[in-house]
Amino acid sequence: MSQEDANLEARLEEQETFEPPESFVEQANVTDPGIYDEFEENWPDCWERAADLLSWEEEYDTVLDDDNAPFYEWFTNGTLNASYNCIDRHVEGDRADETAIEWEGELGETRSYTYSELLEEVEEFAATLRELGVEEDDVVTLYLPMIPELPIAMLACARIGAPHAVVFAGFSADALATRMNAGESEYLVTCDGYYRRGDALDHISKANEGLEGVEHEVSDVVVVDRLGDDLEHDLADNQHDYDDLVAEQEGASVDPVSRDAEDMLFLMYTSGTTGKPKGVKHTTGGYLAYSAWTSHAVLDVKPDDTYWCAADIGWITGHSYIVYGPLALGTTTMMYEGTPDYPEKDRMWELVEKNDVDIFYTAPTAIRAFMKWGEQYPAEHDLSSLRLLGTVGEPINPRAWKWYYKHIGGENCPIVDTWWQTETGGMMITTLPGISKMKPGSAGPPLPGIDARIVDAEGNEISAGEAGYVTVNNPWPGMLRTLYNNDERFISEYWAEYSDEEADEWVYFPEDGAKIDEDGFITVLGRVDDVINVSGHRLGTMEIESAVVGVEGIAEAAVVGGDHEVKGEAVYVYAIPEDGYETGDELEERVVQGVLDSIGPIAKPEEVIFTPELPKTRSGKIMRRLLENIASGDELGNTSTLRNPEVVDEIAEQVDLD
Ligand code: WTA
Repeated sequence: MSQEDANLEARLEEQETFEPPESFVEQANVTDPGIYDEFEENWPDCWERAADLLSWEEEYDTVLDDDNAPFYEWFTNGTLNASYNCIDRHVEGDRADETAIEWEGELGETRSYTYSELLEEVEEFAATLRELGVEEDDVVTLYLPMIPELPIAMLACARIGAPHAVVFAGFSADALATRMNAGESEYLVTCDGYYRRGDALDHISKANEGLEGVEHEVSDVVVVDRLGDDLEHDLADNQHDYDDLVAEQEGASVDPVSRDAEDMLFLMYTSGTTGKPKGVKHTTGGYLAYSAWTSHAVLDVKPDDTYWCAADIGWITGHSYIVYGPLALGTTTMMYEGTPDYPEKDRMWELVEKNDVDIFYTAPTAIRAFMKWGEQYPAEHDLSSLRLLGTVGEPINPRAWKWYYKHIGGENCPIVDTWWQTETGGMMITTLPGISKMKPGSAGPPLPGIDARIVDAEGNEISAGEAGYVTVNNPWPGMLRTLYNNDERFISEYWAEYSDEEADEWVYFPEDGAKIDEDGFITVLGRVDDVINVSGHRLGTMEIESAVVGVEGIAEAAVVGGDHEVKGEAVYVYAIPEDGYETGDELEERVVQGVLDSIGPIAKPEEVIFTPELPKTRSGKIMRRLLENIASGDELGNTSTLRNPEVVDEIAEQVDLD
């Protein structure tokens, strides 16, 4: 490193605030700092700005109906269709021949769809679904990896008013079954398999195994042939080849059905405190308006951009920011099938260079992995097309932020650190890149119109520097409307903690801890419930625990998150064996397998620690905090208040901290 570089590096290490570059500000979609006041003064009508980004069939009467809070309704009596908004209107406008989806397979093959080609595909698959008997409001489960048929199927569902429920392809057969049961879904779209690090991965066997666990009759299964001859498989009587069905509908035209703004667009299952995943319900009007608005205001998406969100569509980030937000704005959205280090660790940067990507949005865990691999990989490529960078999914440490800023953004791109959740539908706390300065590690202020506060346990706002909890004190269009078939749980999970029901004052509690500084910048610290965040993936420790205690030979278990250099958090299992069972490799393997079978590889335990007892308080509660400290290699503090303090050292000795 030259002296000049070393000086630069030292300056960057110390720098605490960054201004967006002039060149960015000049062209940004949102540049007027007055927008914060404007939204506050005109609330809730300010949200017309979001609704105006869409094409409505029938104009809505009211922006917000709060008569039955917290079952808020947005843009009431308005009607629209999400597929029309994401495709047809761009075809009818001047974007028919512009690229809508640019897809790259792991092995290097590419597929590119213009808006008019996408329309054709979506209409043909919409006709296929109808032919199979799918009706408006039937939930269609999509268990597909990152192949173009996934967004095509989502938009086809939206076109005919059938809500989709996408299940992340990395989830296990059991997880698929649980979700299909919960959504009472009778239709499944899946595929034979996909490629991972060059190997053909069997997906259909997993799907079939999942189908065995579905408690109601599944009428039809559509199977995309991704692997061709690389995987032999049979189709059951109610299973159909995607291409065969679509070929029968060649040239079909399917009018987009008219949906009420409040009609369900999709269901997305996510983890919560109890073992059962929650079916988060998102709507056609509010959700679409919110994902489009935040794509415009925060990601600065413009129709001429090539925009790349490197998430998986199986999670909310992919729904809002690969599919709905960017397509509603008529831009080119990229999809990559594979892993970032295949065939080499420069794959992402090769794709940025090849496609002249303008905007890149990823998770801190990926940035930490890139950092570990080394700056030589991005340095091999021309990344000067980039204009804006974003992060999502977990807190970003200032070192990773600065590395991203320097080695990917060339110190010339603002970074938006966007805090939000499956339930919020879109971004909630982040800087606006054309307006604010940035502070590495801190997401920023709440977006205009979002009344997020940091409070203590009683709900009082806390002073700068202290740690508290995030709350959101007014509703927003992208919010979940309820948990599918479970209004009660919707209230108890999100509203019970801080609301004053009698006064009809409703406060949303996202179950995250945070602090705020003198400038109103919020640093999100992480979950305060029993949810952990592994590589930006949200996992319920209770779900993992129930998988572990389901293993023969395990009497009791506690699952916690421990710090991990790349993943952020990793899964640690503490398990008490049943009498008569040997603790050893075999039992450990069965525990790991139990977790893989019930959830999937994302939840794979980092370590399984066998112990004769779990540390408990005198009242018999498991001291999870202590188990987290052990897993993270932190100071253990005072353990004398435990019922069984001697067990702590015994456990700590076994944990392999490298
Ligand atoms: C965490 C992902 C810090 C947070 C979009 C939240 C973050 C959970 C950030 C939601 C961020 C997300 N900084 N923490 N920028 N973004 N989180 O539902 O704990 O998969 O509650 O949605 O991720 O995860 P989910």
